[in-house]
Amino acid sequence: MAIIIKTPQEIEKMRRSGQVVREVLELVRQAVRAGASTLDLENVAAAKMKEIGAKPAFKGYRGYPCVLCTSVNEEVVHGIPSAERVLRDGDIVSIDTGVIIDGYYGDSAITVAVGSKVAPQTQRLLDVTRASLESGIREVRPGATLGDVGAAVQEVVEAEGFSVVREFVGHGIGTRLHEDPQVPNYGRRGQGQKLREGMVIAIEPMVNAGRPDVQVLSDGWTAVTQDGSLSAHFEHTVAVTAEGAVILTQ
Ligand code: MF3
Ligand code: CO
Repeated sequence: MAIIIKTPQEIEKMRRSGQVVREVLELVRQAVRAGASTLDLENVAAAKMKEIGAKPAFKGYRGYPCVLCTSVNEEVVHGIPSAERVLRDGDIVSIDTGVIIDGYYGDSAITVAVGSKVAPQTQRLLDVTRASLESGIREVRPGATLGDVGAAVQEVVEAEGFSVVREFVGHGIGTRLHEDPQVPNYGRRGQGQKLREGMVIAIEPMVNAGRPDVQVLSDGWTAVTQDGSLSAHFEHTVAVTAEGAVILTQ
């Protein structure tokens, strides 16, 4: 598959999708509390998308059943919302969602601490993962490479003693959720695909407090850390412009 370059008009459309994703995520963030189930979060998001008239990007994608992925604690990504999964004080939950508006996708994720009793080491995992995403985004400009982006993410994570998940990567995005190229959260500077003006990519570091290895549970979706350590995930949809990175999901 080839990389699909977007016109400024198409990027404007993707900005709208990105804004709606942001709005949904902020609403869900406010609904995160001890005692809420991950299905409660799903319902908040689904109702908001319906109200706005945005089509959920995840529901039905390869048979995925929900509009959100909600991944708690040692769950890395693709946790399925459930009434049985009730959040507790001190948990962390990754909320990942996407929408389609006028044919164009937006995709973003945040990880949120539940309540006020979050352990300092857990807070550090969240802060470092967000910082690693920001560091990757700072590399984005025409002529930079995906290796520059991945290396920037990886350096921030590993300097703090955490590890980068290899089995899942970011991706091109546009009129499909997943387009070329793949966007790893690791790499070597100067290597890999060169970024060009008009590319739009989702950068989404998944960072484990312990070892990088993950496994997928028998539900066929939920990825967890093999060592049971906590995992965090942040994602933005980012356009490559002559001026550098434009974050479409903020
Ligand atoms: N942000 C994730 C991704 O880009 C979420 C996809 S979940 C799925 O892969 F359900 F849609 F597969
Ligand atoms: Co994504």
